[in-house]
Amino acid sequence: MTHRTCLAVILAAGEGTRMKSAWPKVLHKIGGLEMVGHVTSAASAAGADGLALVVGNGAEQVRDFIESRPVNGTRPDIFVQAERLGTAHAVLAAREAIARGYDDVLVVFGDHPLLDPAVLLDARTRLAEGAAVAVLGFRPPVPTGYGRLIEEGGRLVAIREEKDCSEEEKKIAFCNSGVMAIAGKHALALLDEVGDDNAKGEFYLTDIVGIANRQGLLVVAGEAGNESAMGINNRVELAEAEAVWQRRMRKEAMLSGVTLIAPETVFFSHDTEIGPDTVVEPNVWFGPGVRIAAGVRIHAFSHLEGAAVESGATVGPFARLRPGAEILQKAKIGNFCEVKNSRIESGAKVPHLSYIGDATVGAGANIGAGTITCNYDGFNKHRTEIGAGAFIGTNSALVAPITIGAGAYVASGSVLTEDLAADALAFGRARQASYEGRGKALREKLAAEKAAKQAKG
Ligand code: UD1
Ligand code: CA
Repeated sequence: MTHRTCLAVILAAGEGTRMKSAWPKVLHKIGGLEMVGHVTSAASAAGADGLALVVGNGAEQVRDFIESRPVNGTRPDIFVQAERLGTAHAVLAAREAIARGYDDVLVVFGDHPLLDPAVLLDARTRLAEGAAVAVLGFRPPVPTGYGRLIEEGGRLVAIREEKDCSEEEKKIAFCNSGVMAIAGKHALALLDEVGDDNAKGEFYLTDIVGIANRQGLLVVAGEAGNESAMGINNRVELAEAEAVWQRRMRKEAMLSGVTLIAPETVFFSHDTEIGPDTVVEPNVWFGPGVRIAAGVRIHAFSHLEGAAVESGATVGPFARLRPGAEILQKAKIGNFCEVKNSRIESGAKVPHLSYIGDATVGAGANIGAGTITCNYDGFNKHRTEIGAGAFIGTNSALVAPITIGAGAYVASGSVLTEDLAADALAFGRARQASYEGRGKALREKLAAEKAAKQAKG
């Protein structure tokens, strides 16, 4: 196909009241990404070089989201449809963008987060082959509520909305998914012909099918899978879409070489990256911004977010990696450890019960069980620098800002408030006092006191 320019018009002026939310529906997330973000990504993967987003209520919130996250460098133009007068009226809110002149105009719904780019490309191919309008149909298990596709001899002659269907037409199983591709040169002329003479008194986008036919233009219907047509109206459907999306991601991960022992218990984000030969044990959560290299092991019940893990490293079980955690090659983060905004260099070990925040742990250093970097004084965060090969004894508190030199040795139970030179030894605790025989004496005294109390009743 020679290059054709393409504008995607994304309709998102749905009120979304059934979400019972202070947020516009399209800002609810699947795989940690707003639904409208999934739709803009699908459109841009299908070659859209322009994006026009039509919003109603909550326009400001949607604008904030869009401004914080351009898709492949393209920032959608936002158009406000102040009154909700129907899908054709909504598309016309983006008149200015359509009038710029594109070969193809794709119309998609912002609450269809599982939209497959292949389906959009398929519709664009129909335009390239000469259709003026290409509609994507699907066959839902229950067609009630959808517009029915009325075909004659390979042409689509009309879409009839449920409320306007005859009993006979209601039996048609082939329905409108909502995705439509319109040849740019006809788009505005077709849309401007749409009236509101129907059961709902709305300007129906679907009416352009009949209009195009009356003008002798070719209209065709393709078929999309049910997932691409899945619109989200409430939080039950949101969870259903999440489940479908997670299944896709798990399959993709496994087919790319990642072992998931119990795939149904592992949850990904839209941007999770995992290299081959990494093993993910059961019950692991990947929040946004996680990059895992090849040959890593993520043990059970770990929670990762905004973290990078290099090859040969191991994480968990029960580990929490927070934003800015960098676990370099062959480093180990063990059970009940939390790492935030810290770099754990190659081969370093944080095996048990630690909090490492705003720190660097040098290569090969060993952090004893229960070590805490005290990074926060109630007002500011401070850094802890631990040199390569240092040994931090168990249950130590490192009060930041502090630097522990390479090869230094910190005795167990230390509270360190001052820097420690390379290869130095520090005891940051009270000296032990021992008294021969006094343990036995104390025990006898306590036993006698207790017996006297019991005798008194
Ligand atoms: C629409 C289709 C129907 C199709 C169904 C698939 C029309 C007339 N009907 O019906 O054939 O089977 O989707 O789900 O197009 N919107 C606006 N502004 C408006 C009206 C709607 O932005 O004034 C947006 C909504 O946010 C939504 C989309 O357009 O994302 C579809 O609108 P909706 O009212 O849900 O259409 P349906 O009646 O479901
Ligand atoms: Ca709908």
